[in-house]
Amino acid sequence: LLFSYLEGHELDLFCVPRHYENDLDKVIIPHGLIMDRTERLARDIIRDMGGHHIVALCVLKGGYKFFADLLDYIKALNQNSDKSVPLTVDFIRVKSYCNDKSTNNVKVIGGDELSSLSGKVSLVTHDIVETGRTMQTLLSLLSECNPKMVKVVSLLVKRTPRSSGYRPDYIGFEVPDAFLVGYALDYNEYFRDLSHICILNDQAKEKYKV
Ligand code: IMP
Ligand code: MG
Repeated sequence: LLFSYLEGHELDLFCVPRHYENDLDKVIIPHGLIMDRTERLARDIIRDMGGHHIVALCVLKGGYKFFADLLDYIKALNQNSDKSVPLTVDFIRVKSYCNDKSTNNVKVIGGDELSSLSGKVSLVTHDIVETGRTMQTLLSLLSECNPKMVKVVSLLVKRTPRSSGYRPDYIGFEVPDAFLVGYALDYNEYFRDLSHICILNDQAKEKYKV
C-alpha cells in the first residue's frame, strides 16, 4: 500500500531557494504530494479516532509543518461533515540528532504537564522515524500518564537496517535510507525553510557541520 521513493526527481524540475541550490541531490517528495497525502491521512485518522476529543501533540521542531497542515485538513473535515471532533493542541520538543547521526540520548523538553494526558486520547504527530528510538522513548513516557489511547502519525518512515522494528499507526511515506531535509526537517537547523523533501548531498553535510 505504501509507495517508496528510490529515484527522486531532478532538482531543476522544481523551485528551491537559491541559498540551497548547491546543497541538494534530488527532490524526493514535492510539496504538493505531501499535501495530498496529508489530506488522506486526516481522513483515515478521523475515521478511526473520530468518536473522541483528540489532543494533538506536535513533536517539534521537525513536525511543525506536518502538524499544521494535518490539523488544517482535520479542521476542514470537521467543518464539512455531520460528525465532528473537538481538537486541542500541545507541543513538545525532542532532540536526538547531531549532524546526520542519531544519538542514544533522547531529550524531551517543554509542553504542558504530560500528566494532563491522563484519560485522554492523543495523536502524536512526528516528522520521521529512523531507528524508532525517539518515538519509543516518548511513548514510554506518555504511557506513564495513563492516557486512554495514543496513536502516532509520522509523515515519513525511513527504510533502514538500523530500525528497531517500531512502526507508527499512520505513515505518510516510506523513504530511502538517506539524510532528508525540507518541509521542517533540518540538518543542524538549516533547510526547514525549504518546501519539498529533498536528499542532502555530501558536500552540504560538510558545509553545515557543527
Ligand atoms: P530515530 O529516533 O532514530 O527514529 O530518529 C528520529 C528523529 O531523528 C527525527 O525526529 C528527526 O529529528 C531525526 N532524523 C532522522 N532521520 C532524519 C533525516 O533524514 N533528516 C532529518 N532528521 C532526521
Ligand atoms: Mg532534527
